[in-house]
Amino acid sequence: MKVVVTFGTFDVFHVGHLKILKRASELGDKLVVGVSSDALNIKKKSRAPIYSEAERCEIISSLKFVDDVFLEYSLEEKANYLRSHNANLLVMGCDWEGKFDWIKDEVDCEVIYLPRTPSISTTEIIEIAGGIHNNA
Ligand code: CTP
Repeated sequence: MKVVVTFGTFDVFHVGHLKILKRASELGDKLVVGVSSDALNIKKKSRAPIYSEAERCEIISSLKFVDDVFLEYSLEEKANYLRSHNANLLVMGCDWEGKFDWIKDEVDCEVIYLPRTPSISTTEIIEIAGGIHNNA
């Protein structure tokens, strides 16, 4: 059985999130998703997520091509998360291109980077929604 693991915040769930998860699932037999905790997201992106970690986990785990979800508390623990889930493949968005190649030296796990869906991001949705709110 080939286990694929991917990570992300997945706040304000959008089609870019859907597509990368679907593509990741097609690369193996089981897809496990590490969802950034609220605290980790604040550290990474300097803002609190709109949806709580519990809500984001609930949304991701309800997708038919996602088999398991866990909370990611620390970026430094990536290798341990991969080991504990018996990962064979780590999939990251190409916004992280090259940044996790070191994993291959620590864990028996391949690493690939998939292209992002153009023209959509959580940040952009929040900005647009904020603009609508301010102009209302
Ligand atoms: N992703 C994607 N295509 C997009 C947006 C995100 O493939 N248009 C992927 C990212 O590469 C990552 C995963 O979805 O693998 C989760 O990304 P996340 O950072 O949660 O989403 P963003 O929309 O990029 O969020 P933000 O704008 O806050 O950075």
